[in-house]
Amino acid sequence: MGQLLVALDVESGHRALELASTLHGVVDGVKIGSRLFTLEGPALVRRLTDEGTRVFLDLKFHDIPNTVAQAVGAAVATGAWMVNVHASGGIPMMQAAARAAAETSARLGQSRPLVIAVTVLTSMDENTLRAGGVERPLFDHVVALARMAQQAGLDGVVASPQETAAIRSACGPDFAIVTPGIRGASAGSEKNDQARTMGPAEAVKAGASYLVVGRPIIAASDPRGAAERIADEMKAGV
Ligand code: C5P
Repeated sequence: MGQLLVALDVESGHRALELASTLHGVVDGVKIGSRLFTLEGPALVRRLTDEGTRVFLDLKFHDIPNTVAQAVGAAVATGAWMVNVHASGGIPMMQAAARAAAETSARLGQSRPLVIAVTVLTSMDENTLRAGGVERPLFDHVVALARMAQQAGLDGVVASPQETAAIRSACGPDFAIVTPGIRGASAGSEKNDQARTMGPAEAVKAGASYLVVGRPIIAASDPRGAAERIADEMKAGV
């Protein structure tokens, strides 16, 4: 069964804490991205994790292995439940990330966060990939990066809903697939800037482990009601 994560894409720590409290018990975790983290820093993450909220720290590290390992170690110290890196950083970088997560959490006596990889950003298309020298079709590239992440010992990937079924069949039942781009049905008809979308039940049926939903919840007049409707639809999709 898929779990629901809310993207706290808001302008202040105050608003993020307010939303986390409103959505308590309905969502399975919150996602903090680079904007909110840059504004509020690790103190906000710590505050949420200290309260028992599961935080997906979506900072998409992409650097040399040593630097990524150090960044992942710092992320572990915030109590984050899930962290991520770019698969295109390569297998040695992903291995360094996995090792740092295991070693730092063992040293701090905490549970190890899930370490997942971003495959291809949903804002990229085949032309953008080709301009960067990637000749194979986008879909094949995504699946190949997911296999690389698995080979490097990561726990899963972030991918668009359209790629979920192919990754699930390539990487097996235990690999976590985190899926943004959720729109339609209970997630509303407003697509915003998401192109490759799928409804909540459909995404769960395709094999998504976690659905990341932002604006359909945080911009709703009743965020808790909106999250409840999406969670109900996800259950119906099992
Ligand atoms: O508001 P919305 O539901 O579109 O939010 C989706 C969240 O998932 C945003 O935080 C966005 O940055 C993130 N995301 C995405 N596509 C990716 C990776 C992350 O939409 N490939």
